[in-house]
Amino acid sequence: MRRPANIAPPKGKLGILTPGMGAVSTTFMAGVELVRKGAAQPVGSLTQMGTIRLGKRTEGRSPRIKDFVALSELDKLVFGGWDIFPDTAYQAACKAGVLEQKHLDQAKPFLSKIRPMKAAFDQSYVKNLSGTNVKKGKTKYDLALEIKDDIKNFKETSGVDRVVVAWCGSTEIFLIADAVHQTPGKFVEAMKKNNPAIAPSMLYSWAAITSGVPFANGAPNLTVDIPAMQALALEHNVPICGKDFKTGQTLIKTILAPGFKARMLGMNGWFSTNILGNRDGEVLDDPSSFKTKEESKLGALEYILQPHLYPQLYGKIHHKVRINYYPPRGDNKEGWDNIDIFGWLGYPMQIKVDFLCRDSILAAPIVLDLVLFLDLAQRAGMRGIQEWLSFYFKAPMTAPNLYPEHDLFIQSMKLKNTLRWMMGQELITHLGQEYYD
Ligand SMILES: NC(=O)c1ccc[n+]([C@@H]2O[C@H](COP(=O)([O-])OP(=O)(O)OC[C@H]3O[C@@H](n4cnc5c(N)ncnc54)[C@H](O)[C@@H]3O)[C@@H](O)[C@H]2O)c1
Repeated sequence: MRRPANIAPPKGKLGILTPGMGAVSTTFMAGVELVRKGAAQPVGSLTQMGTIRLGKRTEGRSPRIKDFVALSELDKLVFGGWDIFPDTAYQAACKAGVLEQKHLDQAKPFLSKIRPMKAAFDQSYVKNLSGTNVKKGKTKYDLALEIKDDIKNFKETSGVDRVVVAWCGSTEIFLIADAVHQTPGKFVEAMKKNNPAIAPSMLYSWAAITSGVPFANGAPNLTVDIPAMQALALEHNVPICGKDFKTGQTLIKTILAPGFKARMLGMNGWFSTNILGNRDGEVLDDPSSFKTKEESKLGALEYILQPHLYPQLYGKIHHKVRINYYPPRGDNKEGWDNIDIFGWLGYPMQIKVDFLCRDSILAAPIVLDLVLFLDLAQRAGMRGIQEWLSFYFKAPMTAPNLYPEHDLFIQSMKLKNTLRWMMGQELITHLGQEYYD
C-alpha cells in the first residue's frame, strides 16, 4: 500500500455506534463524558495519553499522539447503539456494575439520553440471553437493510459527519468460515435464505461496510473475519479490524510471553483460569460461546513462542484456558495464571500471577482508541484489514496466509511506525549506530 498523500482533517462530529450497549460500551461512553467534563483522566488510552518519539533520541521530539495525527476531539463524539434490552445507557451502566455511583451520577444526564435501537438478534447464536428490544419477523437480509437505515437515520438526526461502528455485543456461538462467507454475492444470497452460517453480528458488519462505515470487532465472533467482508471493505473504501479486545489475562500473557521468549527460557505449560460474574461471563457459561472465546485466547502463545522454530523450548506446552461464571464477582474478574518455565540445563521454575482485574475498565479505552484510529485511517484513504491495530486484539486479523503478530511490543512498534509512515516521518528501527559515529 502507498503512503497516504494527504489526510482529510476531522471536520465536524464523529458518530460512534455500538451494537451491544452492555458493560464495555457504557463504561466507554460514560468515561468519555467524564473526561470531557474534566472529572477523570483517560487512563489506558494511547490516543489521549500516549506520545510518539520522532527523529533521533537526541532531538527531544516526543509529541502527544493526538497532536501528531489529526484525531477527532472528544467533544466532537456522538454516541448511539443497539441492544436487545431497552435500557438507556444509564440504566445499562447501573446494571453492569462497573462504575461507582459518583461517576454514574455525573454521567447520568448524558447517558440517560442514549437509547438503544432495536437489535438484530437470534437466540440460537447467544443461548443464555433473551430480550424484547429486537427487530422482528424478517429475513436476515431485511434485518441488515434495517440496520443500514438505522445508521443513515442516526447520521441525519445527530448531525454527525462520519460514523464508526464498534461491536460491543455478546460473544456468539463458534462458527467457522463457510462457503457462503467467501464472496459478497454468496453472502447476500445466504442472508436472503436465512442461512444459519450468517450470525447477527455479520448483519451489522455488512450494513456498516456497505454504508461506507469503518467497523471494529470487539468480540471473538467471526463477523468481519471472512473474505466477503474483506472484499466489501476494499470495494467501499472502509477500514476494518478485529477481533476480541485484548484486556485482562491475554494482555498479561502477551506482555510476559515475549519476555520469556526473548531470554530463550523454556516452557512446559501455561494454565489460565478466571472467575467473573458479569453478563459476559453468563454468556460465556454456554459451551458454544465459550468455544469462540477459547479459540481466540489460545492463539496468542503459539504465535509468540513459535514452537516450530524452538521445539526444545516450546514443543511440548500444555496451554489451558478456563472461564468460570461466578456471579458474586460481577465485572471485577480474578484471573490466575500458573506458568511452568524452565531454565539453564532444563531446571524447572514456576510463576504465579493473580490479576484482580476490571475487564471493562481495561476495554473502554481500547474502544476509544479504535474508533479514533479507524476514523483517521478512513480519512487517510486506508481500507481493508488494519493490521497496525493488532495491538488492541486477542486474535488480530491479518492478510490471508500471514501469521498474526501477538507480541504486544512488536504490535506497539507497528502501530507507532504506521503513524510515522502516515505522516511522512522517518521510521524508528532502534538501530542507533549513528550515535557512535
Ligand atoms: N469486558 C472486556 O474486557 C472484554 C474484553 C474482550 C472482549 N470483550 C467482548 O466484548 C463484548 C461485550 O462485553 P461486555 O462485557 O460489555 O458484555 P455485556 O454482556 O455487558 O454486553 C453485551 C451486550 O450486547 C447485547 N447484545 C447481544 N447480542 C446483540 C445483538 N445481536 N445486537 C445488539 N446487542 C446485542 C447484550 O444484550 C448485552 O447488553 C463481549 O463479546 C465480550 O466477550 C469484552
